[in-house]
Amino acid sequence: MKNFGKKIIINKLTALAKEIELASKKYFQEDSPLLSDGEFDSLVARYKKLKKENPNLVPDNDPILKIGSPPSSAFAKVEHNVPLLSLSNAFGQDDVIRFDESVKRFLGLEFSHELDYMAEPKIDGLSLGLKYINGKLFTAATRGDGKIGEDVTHNAITIRDIPKTISNAPEVLEVRGEVYILKSEFNKLNEFQRSKKEKIFANARNAAAGSLRQLDSEVTKNRPLRFFAYSLGTISHNLASSQKQLMKVLSNFGFTINEDRHSCRGVNQLLQTYEHICNKRESLDYEVDGVVYKVNNFSYQEILGARSNSPRWAIAHKFPPEESFTKLLSIEIQVGRTGTLSPVAKLAPVEIGGVMVSSATLHNEDFIKGFDNAGNRIRDGIDIRVGDLVSVYRAGDVIPKVKSINLAERTIDSKPFFFPNCCPGCGGKLIKQKDESVIRCHAGLSCRAQVLERMKHFVSKQGCSIEGLGKKQIISFYDLGWLSTPVDIFRLKLNHGKNSDKPLEKLANWGRKSAENLFDSIDDSRDLGLERFINALGIRYVGEVVSLTLARYYETWTVFHKKMLNIARGKTDDFEELNNIDGIGLKSAEELRIYFESKETEKLVEELLLEINVTRSVSRTVLSPVSGLTVVFTGSLEAMSRSEAKSFAEKMGAKVSNTISLKTAILICGAGAGSKLRKAKEAGVKVLTEDEWVKLVKS
Ligand code: IVH
Repeated sequence: MKNFGKKIIINKLTALAKEIELASKKYFQEDSPLLSDGEFDSLVARYKKLKKENPNLVPDNDPILKIGSPPSSAFAKVEHNVPLLSLSNAFGQDDVIRFDESVKRFLGLEFSHELDYMAEPKIDGLSLGLKYINGKLFTAATRGDGKIGEDVTHNAITIRDIPKTISNAPEVLEVRGEVYILKSEFNKLNEFQRSKKEKIFANARNAAAGSLRQLDSEVTKNRPLRFFAYSLGTISHNLASSQKQLMKVLSNFGFTINEDRHSCRGVNQLLQTYEHICNKRESLDYEVDGVVYKVNNFSYQEILGARSNSPRWAIAHKFPPEESFTKLLSIEIQVGRTGTLSPVAKLAPVEIGGVMVSSATLHNEDFIKGFDNAGNRIRDGIDIRVGDLVSVYRAGDVIPKVKSINLAERTIDSKPFFFPNCCPGCGGKLIKQKDESVIRCHAGLSCRAQVLERMKHFVSKQGCSIEGLGKKQIISFYDLGWLSTPVDIFRLKLNHGKNSDKPLEKLANWGRKSAENLFDSIDDSRDLGLERFINALGIRYVGEVVSLTLARYYETWTVFHKKMLNIARGKTDDFEELNNIDGIGLKSAEELRIYFESKETEKLVEELLLEINVTRSVSRTVLSPVSGLTVVFTGSLEAMSRSEAKSFAEKMGAKVSNTISLKTAILICGAGAGSKLRKAKEAGVKVLTEDEWVKLVKS
């Protein structure tokens, strides 16, 4: 492969990896999904496919190994002696057939052999491990990253389905299962939350996760949480020889088990059970997102063992996302903060999976046309037109999407949709980058839509988080001519305080108190962490995750800014350093260069720094033998995953890079190290084994 092609694939893998990482963080750590389950699964599937086709280009920081979440520091940590694994997914019959074949191949059984399986509904909640010592509930822990979870015992004891004591239990018994909320109780919970003006949950799973991960167990107690038991973790002696037997034992111990489980012989019975559960999915009072197939015999399970993240003896056969047909009423074009034009379908309201939907994303111009930028067909090349009957799917909670068009219903007078040829936000010129589907307005600060979006982003929670300054206020202040850049926000009090010519408190719907509150919260936001400040600037491809990585690496605004200005002035070694930071891709590096090149940025940053104080990145507080040193990891590590090793190194004050350069102080080598080890030796870089590294850091 030519280097150019390689670079594109590496960039693609890195971009996908970052998307997976961010979506995973939002889902697992913040109980606030960015993508629907279907979208997330397809993102992971795309990544895995590309990885399989290009095994030598896999990023060091493989996000697949990290799906799940590190435990939150708000809870005590519990180590899972037996890792709390996830399940690999099957999206169709072929995947299930392949799974059955691979199990038999591994066990050395004839392909004609029909294995015994247990098929169970895959409840969409969150997994919990309950450890009993001498029959008494000792700890309840969430999955966390699979190895270390969060201690939520204080909340688990408020769940009725969880026995607090078990008679005749083995000395150590860990029961695993799913915490969830019934659909009917979820609706009531949201009604209650609405009446109290409290957080509305996106779906039952998030409600369950948010309720279990509460610091105050009084809150959890009033949430309708339930628990299904389905497997074991650590045990002091064996209780059963099969999944079928285990379910009986768990039921006798007093656990609720799912009555809708099915013993199946051979792959055909698995597929029949899938159809059966899929058909009754709607009528079940709990959310099910698939069917889990488990090899029944525990001796077989033991032989099959596990991969890094999932057992070989089980698979989750996922349901297709939920969808409904409705009429496309109009297509609206929205302009984002970086000028990207996003078409949105306005729909005749329709219920999909219990939620009313009236708009859906149409992604970009190519998606509407039915051909991607390489000329490949989308939806068999059928375009999308206003008036069409479209099938919309939701697959959970976030932005609905258009899947297909019912051509039979298209009227003869329907017309193709023409994407605007000037920006709907300012009338400015539009540019479509070669090889990209995205169309952008390049008017920057002269485009009203972009200015408003940039300011909304600047004040958002991930930026400088100014309470009381939302979309509505920003539009109204902008239209009054009070705000046109984020700097104006910090001058609001000076220009529109009570003694000014045009005081805020005199505006309709404002008063003395509300104006003072806003000025106070603006003042509160003047001390801003470096990662939040970088994110607030709203640079393309520099979102939360990238901002955090940059802040951890450069530590202070002064250093970061100096390096970015050097890069903008063409200093290639600083650009290379940036591009080599673990977690920074070429696209982000390139956009940073473009951003800091601009005169507009120079002025904005200069003025902002007169108003705010950018504080150091939070992470670099530890002084250790490796503080300030640039280190590189290579090969597969034993004691920790790559991401754990990276964050551990960063906590200890080291900087983690992807490639060996003049700056590299140490290369830490796991098994199977290749070209990096060779390069390090050539460059005279210190090489340590994983053990030596741990000893050094802790010395
Ligand atoms: S067995 C080794 N059985 O699905 C993993 N998991 O996507 C054993 N889940 O983390 C899990 N229903 O939280 C199992 N009947 C069921 C399940 C189930 C839901 C969840 C579980 C797991 C996730 C994987």
